[in-house]
Amino acid sequence: MNQDTWSRVDHYFCDALLPDDPVLTAALADSDAAGLPSHHVAPNQGQLLHLFARMQGAKKILEIGTLAGYSTIWLARALPEGGQVVSLEANPRNAEVARINIERAGLSHLVDVRVGRAIDTLPLLADEGLAPFDLVFIDADKPSNPQYLDWSLKLARKGTVIIGDNVVRNGEVANPHSEDANVQGVRRFFELMAANPRLRATAIQTVGSKGYDGFSLAIVEG
Ligand code: DHB
Ligand code: MG
Repeated sequence: MNQDTWSRVDHYFCDALLPDDPVLTAALADSDAAGLPSHHVAPNQGQLLHLFARMQGAKKILEIGTLAGYSTIWLARALPEGGQVVSLEANPRNAEVARINIERAGLSHLVDVRVGRAIDTLPLLADEGLAPFDLVFIDADKPSNPQYLDWSLKLARKGTVIIGDNVVRNGEVANPHSEDANVQGVRRFFELMAANPRLRATAIQTVGSKGYDGFSLAIVEG
């Protein structure tokens, strides 16, 4: 098995199950044109996030790491009228691309993109009374994952779902001696999830058009 096979199967799944989506295609084209990294989720992963949000009946979603707003669009489309995605983005250029993409998708009324380091903007959400969120998607700088988990828990309720992207780090997540700050951040994130009696969690490895990776999934039990 190799990347060609994984990509071929992902394209088959996407062709079979996901209708053509000019708004999402344009979002990716604009992201590329603006020179943003191709770190957005794959279309079938976007649909998975959308399905998780629907299964959860999520009305309030927190996304940490907007990038070009690709996953934001998948999540916002899962909301009922009156729902809200608050998406945090450190880089103002990324946030501007995201705003245009979200506007083109007709979702501006449901999405609040906040510019600033999440570590600075997360406390404001608590102060503004926006919590509790029904679903949190953590998809930003991996060294900060432990702090993002802490904040997710502060902004959660019993039943909140917390999803973490990119937890495999090319397999290095299983290396306790890694000196990579991304790996260390993800490992600490796992330790904190494991040690927290409020959380029931798992993690799944994935292959596909985005390579070898995986995500974590947790529910707040109390
Ligand atoms: C990386 C980050 C992401 O959020 C992603 O989806 C893919 C890769 C990275 O930092 O390498
Ligand atoms: Mg990611």
